[in-house]
Amino acid sequence: MIHHIRLLIFIFIAFALSLSARAAEKLFISINTENTSIVLEKNDTGDLMFMHYGLPTGDASQYGNYNSYRRVDYGTDPMAYPARGGRYYNEPALSVKYADTDANTELKYVSHKTSVPQKGVEQTDIILRDPKTALEVTLTYTAYQKEDVITAHTEITNKGGKTVTLENYASSCINLKAGKYLLTHFHGAWAGEMQTEHEQLTHGTKIIDNKMGVRTTHTENPSFMLSLDTEDFDENHGEVIAGALVWSGNYKMSFQIDEFDRLNIISGINPHACAYPLKKGESFITPDMIWTYSCAGAGQASRNLHDWARKYDLYSHGRMAPTLLNSWEGAYFDFTTPVLTGMIDDAAAMGLEMFVLDDGWFGTDYPRNSSRQGLGDWQLNTKKIPEGIEYLADYAHKKGLKFGIWIEPEMVNPKSNLAKKHPEWIVKSPGREATTTRNQWLLDLCNPEVQDFVFNVFDETMQLAVNKIDYIKWDCNRHVESFGSSFLREQSKFYVDYIQGLYSVLKRLRAKYPDVIVQSCSSGGGRVDYGALNYFDEVWTSDNTEGLSRVFIQYGTNMIYPACTTGSHVSDVPNHQTNNVTPLKFRFDIASAGRLGMELQPKKMSADDRAYAQRAIASYKRFRDLVEQGDLYRLVSPYDGDHYALMYVSKDKTRAVVFAYCIKYQGRARKPLIRLYGLDKDKSYSITELNTDTPSFWGDGQTFSGQWLINQGINPQLVKIYDSGIWYLEAK
Ligand code: DGJ
Repeated sequence: MIHHIRLLIFIFIAFALSLSARAAEKLFISINTENTSIVLEKNDTGDLMFMHYGLPTGDASQYGNYNSYRRVDYGTDPMAYPARGGRYYNEPALSVKYADTDANTELKYVSHKTSVPQKGVEQTDIILRDPKTALEVTLTYTAYQKEDVITAHTEITNKGGKTVTLENYASSCINLKAGKYLLTHFHGAWAGEMQTEHEQLTHGTKIIDNKMGVRTTHTENPSFMLSLDTEDFDENHGEVIAGALVWSGNYKMSFQIDEFDRLNIISGINPHACAYPLKKGESFITPDMIWTYSCAGAGQASRNLHDWARKYDLYSHGRMAPTLLNSWEGAYFDFTTPVLTGMIDDAAAMGLEMFVLDDGWFGTDYPRNSSRQGLGDWQLNTKKIPEGIEYLADYAHKKGLKFGIWIEPEMVNPKSNLAKKHPEWIVKSPGREATTTRNQWLLDLCNPEVQDFVFNVFDETMQLAVNKIDYIKWDCNRHVESFGSSFLREQSKFYVDYIQGLYSVLKRLRAKYPDVIVQSCSSGGGRVDYGALNYFDEVWTSDNTEGLSRVFIQYGTNMIYPACTTGSHVSDVPNHQTNNVTPLKFRFDIASAGRLGMELQPKKMSADDRAYAQRAIASYKRFRDLVEQGDLYRLVSPYDGDHYALMYVSKDKTRAVVFAYCIKYQGRARKPLIRLYGLDKDKSYSITELNTDTPSFWGDGQTFSGQWLINQGINPQLVKIYDSGIWYLEAK
């Protein structure tokens, strides 16, 4: 008997020793795309470390002897998903408070597996666990082979006994080592979104974030680029990493350079007022963070994101957008049926393909004749349109146009029947005033009843002309203030649950209306992010349609989001936002670099201008597929001086369209030199300037080798402010 017990003890000790030896074994996990690689290491203490992101470095076991020369007892080597507490003191990706008030978490590697969810996509799931609390974290990296994109998200599960509170729950953390880090990010405001800003990161922490709740973009956009080892933003050379978050709510991206000059980037939902309780057995899945790496400058980073988005993220997958006339700046709230049918006639005559009826068509007791009332009461105003929406849709269809209509279902004016009927649906904190913005309140999408209401606003609007509404413009004209939900027990869930509520409504709507084109508008570009684009076909890039402003807005937006998503309209002069006057050609030439539309009263246009519009719209249809599906090359930055130029090239490089604009007069000698980097040097191209009878380039109509056009470029006479040109290139 004693002999047996001794044997058992011996076997147990041997097993335990072999386990601890295995636990101490290093292990390497490589996450690879065709040209890039992330390498993680489980070290001998069971921590998961972030070793590399960039070009592939070959056999990962070479990291086995890697020596960072840091003190082993110092705890500053980069963690793959750093948690607050234990030995870690930099910005954490995860902070948790446990029932016993312990606020430390120490995640140890448990296991990992790799799978292939679809061709060209490889998924790696890595399980980490805190041995004390049994909190489990699964890191999921999805590697999109051809696009060189890796997305990362995290699932956090409470496997312990009592409720825990997540205080910080980032999607992803990456760690880099370079001599210099140039951060490019996009700040903005209403009518001035996505302004590009470059800054050299220094020691300490830089944060870009948003706390507006339901509009991601009117401060900063949840995206950035990072150029390594340089002080210059370069389109064609050098290492650039781009990142973007798939989330339409509060976000935070922190860039911390530590004392060892390593840069730690943590990105995800903003922990601001957002502590999230997890009961036993519950999980929280963070949104995806998208990463791409390019060793050929910022241009390639954009193209990677665009390719990935068209294939995997965008609801539309980049399907072709109809050109349109929107009624807003042409009529505002002031219309009746004849005004609208007149607009439809004019749109058809100019060759446009859709008419969109904007704000002002609804409200009976509180007719929506201004922004002061009516939101929430989605019944047709029969005083304005006695014939009904179906009549307008039929009228448009008979003219060969699609038909679209505006809604703002998340909002309510205090002056409305809805506000009186459901005061409990309004976002506000008890005992505090619900503030209005643009005279309106926000509805509480955390509440399933409100989710149903919002779903029904869309659904019932679609029923106003069954199977005849082709497009919905979904607006959102305010952000969150005095947050609070009378539905939620834990108010700190508000910011997350609102966006999850929104996504759940959009999911239901997409199941019912898969083919309707839906625009994400939010006072212009307030909701421009890859989360929204999972459900919306396009974004309204900005309420500012003035040509010069659009140069900068579109330059920044299209750095991250492909042109097939960015609505861009030609509007009246003087511009309603800026008062600036730009030539019609300039306005068309910049709007044609996105999803082209018009937003004015055509009746106010001269016959010549209408004829010009017709010509420009016809040209656009010739190259629209390049703008929406082609590869973007930014050729001259508008921030570098007096010109802006860009081109889109077909994937097989047989067709291209080039756009160039003079945005500042600096003297007659200042002509742009535009090198057409996107072409194939071994092909020959004919070059034709569109929309003009007086070409600005001496080589118009001639054929040049790609090599010539890349290295010599074109030098059009775009000298005076607002001179602009569009060239169409075809391989011979
Ligand atoms: C704000 C949008 O950005 C505009 O295009 C227009 O739809 C108005 N709202 C309507 O109120």
